[in-house]
Amino acid sequence: MLDRRRFLALSSTALGVGALAACSSGGDSGSGGDGGTDVEVFTWWAAGSEKAGLDALVKVFGEQHSDFTFVNGAVAGGAGSAAKDMLQSRLQASDPPDTFQAHAGAELQDYIDAAQIEDVSDLYDEYKLTDAFPKDLVDRLTVDGKIYSIPSNIHRSNVVWANAKVLEKAGIDAKKAPGSVDDFLADLEKAKGAGVTALSVGTTWCQVNLLEAILMSELGSEKYNGLFDGKTAWDDAAVTSSLEAFQKMMGYTNTDRDSLDWPDATQQLIDGKAAYNVMGDWAEAAFQQAKLKDGEDYTYFPLPGKEKIFGFLADSFTLPVGAPNADGAKAWLDTLSSKDGQLAFNLAKGSIPARTDVDESQFGTYSQTALKSFAEDAISPSIAHGAAVPVAWLNDLSDATSQFTTGASDLAAYQKALVAAADKYAS
Ligand code: GAL
Repeated sequence: MLDRRRFLALSSTALGVGALAACSSGGDSGSGGDGGTDVEVFTWWAAGSEKAGLDALVKVFGEQHSDFTFVNGAVAGGAGSAAKDMLQSRLQASDPPDTFQAHAGAELQDYIDAAQIEDVSDLYDEYKLTDAFPKDLVDRLTVDGKIYSIPSNIHRSNVVWANAKVLEKAGIDAKKAPGSVDDFLADLEKAKGAGVTALSVGTTWCQVNLLEAILMSELGSEKYNGLFDGKTAWDDAAVTSSLEAFQKMMGYTNTDRDSLDWPDATQQLIDGKAAYNVMGDWAEAAFQQAKLKDGEDYTYFPLPGKEKIFGFLADSFTLPVGAPNADGAKAWLDTLSSKDGQLAFNLAKGSIPARTDVDESQFGTYSQTALKSFAEDAISPSIAHGAAVPVAWLNDLSDATSQFTTGASDLAAYQKALVAAADKYAS
């Protein structure tokens, strides 16, 4: 009989959830730690540079826990755009993977509220992690004194990437970052004049990623952070001017944007077809993979604004309630939280280690800027990547954004929809 874990991995796209649940009930693995050797790890790191990051971690897992076998449960789609729905269906059908990727912050809170993940505080003691991570980060994983996941990495969401050669052609100084959103808009106009796509962007979640970067720039960190706890109103004039800037920027983007995921949009920049791309720093891993030279072929800067801000998000991994192979999941958590695991994974992923005691000298030029910014700048949570808002709020916000960018472009209606979403969900 086909091993259950392998069956799930092979068939997860071909079968509906009901079929999976039916199969799994007759499966060969028990629950709560007696699940054999296979460990199904659920992520959305299915291809390209993201898969390269995952592969680097899997290698360390093989070295540290050779008694277990990694089973790839990845579901393609940047930012978990397809994975999160699939995961939710499986969790509701009591068919959890052994461990799954979840963002620190509001997104993790969703799983905690639904009682879908276990408290893993004891692993923090067992693996001696309590002092290994920044306290602020652990706070985003903690509810009522219980810690619900272990972080693998920290990503920055508000980075502008540029093709240095295209900028040169367009008469833009690639060594000098613009000082404001308006300056950046002026450079987009110049880039457009050079006959390329000025700003490449992908589908809705990439557009939300762009929007959040603009909001951070225009509002400043404290005011932006207030959007999520009711301290800043979504009908604030600064939100209106951010939406205006967003509308202007979208005017410089590629027409095929709604059919592209982030790697395709970033590829336009790599290929010299686009001047700029605003994306999280997983793009750095794509540039490395494409063998682009930092400073010569590409360059980067945080979207400029009121102050220096690190747009924050962190991936973490969980122990789902009813995980078929809890011991295997704990082994995975052991590896990803270890110094070796964090080093290998983050070097390949474009992120910085969540642990504070990893040898930072091995990280490249871009990552050094991220490490410095994370240590020194104001921190603001990402909307598009689960740090700032729960999934339901993000869904409303994404729908409103998609309607705005694909439909009538009615800015007042867009802002009204954002206000309505906040009224529904802000605490
Ligand atoms: C984020 C995730 C990153 C990266 C990105 C693009 O949500 O935290 O690790 O994978 O999506 O898919």
